[in-house]
Amino acid sequence: MKLSYLWRGLPGHPLHPPLTDATIGIYTFATLAGLIEVLGITERNGAIGWWLALILGLIVTVPTALTGLAEWLTISWRSELWLTATYHLLSMVTATLFFGLAAIFGHDAYTHADVSAGAYVLTLIGFGFLTLGGWIGGSIVYVHGMRVLNLLREPTERAVTPTPPPEKEMAEGG
Ligand code: HEM
Repeated sequence: MKLSYLWRGLPGHPLHPPLTDATIGIYTFATLAGLIEVLGITERNGAIGWWLALILGLIVTVPTALTGLAEWLTISWRSELWLTATYHLLSMVTATLFFGLAAIFGHDAYTHADVSAGAYVLTLIGFGFLTLGGWIGGSIVYVHGMRVLNLLREPTERAVTPTPPPEKEMAEGG
């Protein structure tokens, strides 16, 4: 048992990916809720959902980014993997910045249950960077293979065990 399991997760079960699912899901909801308001499909509810989801997304981004940072710090500096992960970091920080600006500049309109055009454009730009960052996140894992154990013949009962045997920690890498 390593202490770093607390912020990096277990071998085969890193903490960052499930948190990214929640974060991306919440921002996606915000973008869609804003869209239905902008399109006039809703009159108030879309705006309220949009702004509150932006705030929730920003809150959930904190543990997501921190667990990502914990992973990033383990990578050899200036390696190809490090470069890919750094592009991912920059894209996600930029996305967060735009969602933050959207929440700040959209607050007035939200208090009138509305979505302002400018704040929605900021949301869309944030979503663009989120998508780009998600794509690059996929490259880290599915191209470079970071945190992937790839134990194809691992018996199911061992694959689902929360605490894997020590030899699998060695196989983990990254
Ligand atoms: C809004 C914040 C972030 C989101 C939504 C996000 C999203 C993602 C996604 C979708 C993946 C692929 C995971 C998978 O295969 O399911 C990933 C992997 C990764 N991300 Fe992030 N990320 C965020 C912030 C960060 C930050 C700030 C860093 C670095 C400082 C970072 C570093 C990494 C690393 C090293 C991986 C590969 C290892 C792993 O999956 O645990 N991420 N991220």
